[in-house]
Amino acid sequence: MAFSRDVVIVGGCGRVGLPLGLALAGSGLAVTLYDRDAFAVDRVRAGKMPFFEREADEALERLIPTDRLEVTTEAQAVSNAEHVIVVVGTPVDEHLNPDPTAVINVIEGLLDQLRDGQHLVLRSTVYPGVTAMIEKLLKAAHRTVDVSFCPERLAEGRALEELRTLPQLVSARTERAVRRAEALFGGVSPKLVRLEVEEAELAKLFTNTWRYIKFAAANQLFMIANDFGLDFARIRAALKEDYPRAADMPGPGLAAVRVCSRTRCSSRRSTTTTSPSVTRA
Ligand SMILES: NC(=O)c1ccc[n+]([C@@H]2O[C@H](COP(=O)([O-])OP(=O)(O)OC[C@H]3O[C@@H](n4cnc5c(N)ncnc54)[C@H](O)[C@@H]3O)[C@@H](O)[C@H]2O)c1
Repeated sequence: MAFSRDVVIVGGCGRVGLPLGLALAGSGLAVTLYDRDAFAVDRVRAGKMPFFEREADEALERLIPTDRLEVTTEAQAVSNAEHVIVVVGTPVDEHLNPDPTAVINVIEGLLDQLRDGQHLVLRSTVYPGVTAMIEKLLKAAHRTVDVSFCPERLAEGRALEELRTLPQLVSARTERAVRRAEALFGGVSPKLVRLEVEEAELAKLFTNTWRYIKFAAANQLFMIANDFGLDFARIRAALKEDYPRAADMPGPGLAAVRVCSRTRCSSRRSTTTTSPSVTRA
């Protein structure tokens, strides 16, 4: 089946979608950024990043005049691309529980646009089992689409650099789908690590969880030290000194909060604890 574009990214003007789109277009692929946020689409089309991301201003400026990067609010763009990468946000409720239906609802809304022979890449952080639910949905809708789950594990602000330097987890149910995912990400990632689909879903969730636990533990120590009238920085420096097992103890600060320079930035992530005002990606 012939496709006029290599890749379409659903959620293509978001924090994850836009850097990935720039990287893939920079590697020579014809990429369409599809996003329902007309404000963000207009900005990107005008060559302006909606948020801060190192190296991205120059990449966008270089790519936007070329046909390797298109930006649209039109869902029909999804039909034209061989690889459909879905990287919409995962909303959380008031108890910080993720909404497991969010990504599924987006795919359901795109069923009319999906064509046989496409490769659907799920890249949002998902509730375990969501990939299987999407496979079931596609089967029920009689779509012959390869599905892979290839999670994003990059730090905001450093995504372009980390895409080039950090391994990419790749998972799919069939060898053909895995190979398509590897061919796609192989052009930008230095190393591809294969997992089963549910393993990859858990690996992504616990990449985040592990990081947040470390922040929470450091914050706990900060508060206990304060209660004792002690200096957290002094304790931390001492416990790390020439002691590799504690080398990654972070400083205190808000965890899982986004620095957002976007004019219309919507509500953002959770905090694992509320102490000092250092912000992390
Ligand atoms: N931001 C990070 O550092 C980071 C890191 C790893 C994983 N993730 C995960 O990646 C996913 C995306 O996160 P993000 O930070 O890019 O979110 P985001 O809110 O910045 O971007 C999502 C984009 O998707 C668009 N969108 C939403 N629904 C759409 C639809 N139906 N059709 C077209 N466009 C739609 C929105 O307009 C928005 O521009 C989430 O699951 C998140 O947990 C984020």
